[in-house]
Amino acid sequence: MEGYHQSVLVREVLELLRAEEARLVYDVTAGDGGHMEAFLQVMPSAGRVSGIDRDPQALQRLRQRLASYADRIQVVRGNFRDLQTLLAQSDQGHVDAILADLGISTLQITVPEKGFMFSADGPLAMQMDPQSGLSAETVVNEFDEGQLGEIFRTLGEERAWRRIARAVVRARSRGRIIRTGQLADIIRAAVPGPHTIKSCARVFQSLRIFVNDELRNLELFLPQALSALRPGGRLGVISFHSLEDRIVKEFIRNEADPCTCPPKLPFCVCGAVARLRPVGRLVVPSAAEVAANPSARSARLRVAEKIV
Ligand SMILES: C[S@@+](CC[C@H](N)C(=O)[O-])C[C@H]1O[C@@H](n2cnc3c(N)ncnc32)[C@H](O)[C@@H]1O
Repeated sequence: MEGYHQSVLVREVLELLRAEEARLVYDVTAGDGGHMEAFLQVMPSAGRVSGIDRDPQALQRLRQRLASYADRIQVVRGNFRDLQTLLAQSDQGHVDAILADLGISTLQITVPEKGFMFSADGPLAMQMDPQSGLSAETVVNEFDEGQLGEIFRTLGEERAWRRIARAVVRARSRGRIIRTGQLADIIRAAVPGPHTIKSCARVFQSLRIFVNDELRNLELFLPQALSALRPGGRLGVISFHSLEDRIVKEFIRNEADPCTCPPKLPFCVCGAVARLRPVGRLVVPSAAEVAANPSARSARLRVAEKIV
């Protein structure tokens, strides 16, 4: 099948998650299965990969792509925030590597019906899981101006958040906003000029993160991933947004240095035990990767190893 999502930082992921030695891997954002396939190609032949995704369409494509590995993969539909319940009980505490490659895939961005695009008209949906309750349409039409501004400011880091929120509220008083094209026109009119495309991208991103509860999902997932790993197992998270990266960085830092003793004490008395150790520094794509795949440009990979 043509047009698969182009996986990012593949070589770095395989190396830092020690794919060649791994027998059991969880890819909790399976998407188009690119990282899964790369793992399967280098893992020992008895190695297994379990893939999780919220999007049923993604899993359908993935099953076709990885049909030749059918006896070594397991595919589960679900949200990684429920990792513990999605995980086979026998896998708990035995997983060698867990990968989360956050955000959305090319498939999701390029299908107008999913409503992620500002450049093509579609329903104002934006749910990765079409059965999850809240749509972008509900947010845009039913949240008050202050709440909308907060979403655009914090999750989109959009400077014209106030002006755009006001324009949305004014526009919806004339009729419900139900299409991505309508919302994009409102943003373009509110922020004309050279920044208009960036503003559209930031507002759409902020709504997507909000609708899918992406930051909370990540916060709930990280401790469960740590429990699922075996000692010596590794966790890798690729993020595309500074708020996501901050959550990952702080989680690793707190688990690597959990001591809560006052700094003046000569030694630790709180008894907190480090459970993770960071592996290397923040990894970003090479210039060659960004040139070949511009959507990789904001990818950030952090890896940590479970101690206990
Ligand atoms: C960037 S794509 C992953 C691409 C994949 N690594 C590949 O190489 O083809 C992110 C995927 O994660 C899924 N996703 C995002 N948040 C999720 C969540 N909380 N639980 C499960 N899947 C999620 C999206 O539906 C999307 O398919």
